[in-house]
Amino acid sequence: MYSVPKLEDFSPAAIDAAAAELLAALRAEAETISGAKAFEEFRNRWMARKNGVLTQVNELWLKAAPGPAKREVGQRVNALKTQAEELVSLAAERASGSAQDERLRAEAVDVTLPGIERPLGVRHPVLRTLDELISVFVKMGYSIADGPEVESDYYNFEALNFPPNHPARDTQDTLFIAGQEERAQRDRLLLRTHTSPVQIRTMERITPPVRVICPGKVHRNDAPDATHSPVFHQLEGLCVDTGITFGDLKGTLDHAMKSLFGSAVKTSFRPSFFPFTEPSVEVSISCPFCGGRGCRPCKQSGWIELLGAGMVDPNVFGFVGYDPAKISGFAFGMGVERLTMMSYNVDDIQQFFYGDMRFLEQFA
Ligand code: DAH
Repeated sequence: MYSVPKLEDFSPAAIDAAAAELLAALRAEAETISGAKAFEEFRNRWMARKNGVLTQVNELWLKAAPGPAKREVGQRVNALKTQAEELVSLAAERASGSAQDERLRAEAVDVTLPGIERPLGVRHPVLRTLDELISVFVKMGYSIADGPEVESDYYNFEALNFPPNHPARDTQDTLFIAGQEERAQRDRLLLRTHTSPVQIRTMERITPPVRVICPGKVHRNDAPDATHSPVFHQLEGLCVDTGITFGDLKGTLDHAMKSLFGSAVKTSFRPSFFPFTEPSVEVSISCPFCGGRGCRPCKQSGWIELLGAGMVDPNVFGFVGYDPAKISGFAFGMGVERLTMMSYNVDDIQQFFYGDMRFLEQFA
C-alpha cells in the first residue's frame, strides 16, 4: 500500500517523480474499488483532512521544503492535488455506477419464468343449483326475501299453524338454543328447520300482492347419512293475491320444473299434509334420466318426488293480519341438496359439506 515518502531532494525533478509515483498508486487503487463502502474508505485514505495521503504530502513535502524551494514545491503540490481530486471524483462516478449495477443485478426479474397460477374459484354445486332455481322464479316476477337462521318458535312453528305440542312438530327434529327455559315458548330460539318462517316475516312486512322466494340454510337434528344432513338448504316460495287458485300453483310449478329439467318433464301432484297449507300436495316430476321408464335415480318408479306445496292455510293468514275472505295464495318448498344430487348424479349428500377438493374440483 502506498505511503508518502520523506524527501531529501526538493528539486522540481524529484518532486515530479514523487508526484508521478503517488498518482500511479492512486490510479491503481482507484481501479480496484467497487461499491459505496469501498469508495468511502478509499476517499478517506487519500483525501481526509486529518492524516489523508494528500495532507501528509502537505506536511512531508511542502512544509518540510527549505525556504527557497517552497514556491516551486507549492505549485507542484497544488497541481498534484488537482489531479488527485480528479482521479478521486472519477472513481466516485465509477463506484456509484457499480453500486447501481449491483442493485439492478440484485433486483433483476427473469421475465421468462412461468407465472404463479392462481386457480379460479367457482360456485359450490349447491349454490349453483340455488342460483338456477332463483333465476327461474325471478323471470316469473318473484323477488327474493330472507330471514334469520336462528329463529323463534313463533315464526318457525306457531305462526305456520303448528300449535304448541302438536304432533306435526315431530316431523322436524329441531335444534333448540340451550338455556331458554325462562322464556315463553313462542320466544324460544331455535335453528330454523325450514325456510317457511320467511313466509310469515314477509307477510308481516308487506301487503298483497306477494310473490317471493326465500333461499336459505336450515338445520335439523338428523343423524348424517347418505341422504340426511343436519344442515341443508331449501328454496321456499310464496304467492298471495286476489283470486289465486290451485291452478296457479300447478301452472307455476309445472313451468318451473320444465325450465329446470327440460320441457319433456311432466309433473304430478298427490295429496299430502302440511300444517300451513290446505290442501297440501307432494309434487313429483317424471324422471328426467329415464323419461319415466324406470331407472336407479327414480328407484324404477319413473317419478321423483321433489317438493312440498299447497294453498296457504287461512289460519296462517290470520297470524299475519291478512283477510282470507279477500285473498288467497299458494306456497312451496324444496330441498336444494336433493335437487343438486339429482342434477349431478351425486349419491352422498355429505360430499357437499366435507370440503374435499377431489369432489369439489369436478365442478370447476
Ligand atoms: N317447509 C316444508 C318442509 O320443510 C316444505 C314446504 C311444504 C314448504 C309445503 C311450503 C309448502 O311452503 O307449502 O318440509
